[in-house]
Amino acid sequence: MIRLGVNVDHVATVRQARMIDVPDPVEAALIAEQAGADGITVHLREDRRHIQERDVRLLRERSRSKVNLEMAVTPAMVAFAESVKPDDACFVPEKREELTTEGGLDVVSHKAKIKEAVERLQGRTIHVSLFIDPESAQIETAKEVGAHAIEIHTGSYCNASGRERDEQLGVIVSAATLARKLGLEVHGGHGLNYDNVLPIARIPEIVELNIGHSIIARAVIVGIEQAVREMKELLARARE
Ligand code: PXP
Repeated sequence: MIRLGVNVDHVATVRQARMIDVPDPVEAALIAEQAGADGITVHLREDRRHIQERDVRLLRERSRSKVNLEMAVTPAMVAFAESVKPDDACFVPEKREELTTEGGLDVVSHKAKIKEAVERLQGRTIHVSLFIDPESAQIETAKEVGAHAIEIHTGSYCNASGRERDEQLGVIVSAATLARKLGLEVHGGHGLNYDNVLPIARIPEIVELNIGHSIIARAVIVGIEQAVREMKELLARARE
C-alpha cells in the first residue's frame, strides 16, 4: 500500500493568522496518525510563515509515525535538522515571495552544495529525498549526489487538464521508472487532491505521496480524522 504523508503546514497557517497557539499542528498531526497517516510532513520555511521550530521539535517527540522535514539547503537548516533528527528530510527550493514551493530543486546546478548536505544528514541516519521536476538530468544527478529518494513534483500534472494532463502523467511515469531503475526510492507530491490523486497513486514505482493543502482544506469542513481516512481509502482503491 502506498504511504500517505500528511503535511500539516496549513494548520499552522491558521494559527499564525492570529499569532496565538491554536490550532496546533502537532495536535492535528497526532489525530492524522490515528486516522491512518503513515507519516507527517512539515516545512520549516526561512520566513517561518507557518511551521515554527517548536512545532518540529514537539512533533519529533510525540509522533508515532515518520517525521519528514521539508527544508531549504542552507547551513542553518542543515544544522537544525541535525539537532532534531527527523526520520526523513526533503530538500526543496525556497523563495521568500512564493505562495508555495513553485518548482523543483535544481540539483544539476547546485550539485556540490546538495551533495555535501545529503552526506551530512545521511551520516546522521536521516533519509534524504530531493524534490525535483520529472526530468532525467535531475534524477540522474539526484542519484550521483547520493540521495535515498526523489519526490517528484506533481504540480504540472495537477495544473493541467485534458490531453495535457495525460501527457504530464506520462512524463511522471517515465521519471518514476528511471528513478527506480537507478535504485532511488520514489515519492510524489504537490497539488494532489481527492479528484486528481488516483492516476498518480496507481504508478507502481511511487511508494509515498505527501499531501497537504487538500487534506487540511477538507479537514476544515469534515474534521482531520475523516479527511485523512477519505484520502487513505482512495489510495487503497488505487492499488486494488
Ligand atoms: N511536497 C513538497 C516537497 C512540498 O513542498 C509541498 C508543499 O509544501 C507538498 C508536497 C504538499 O503540497 P500540497 O500542499 O499542494 O499538497
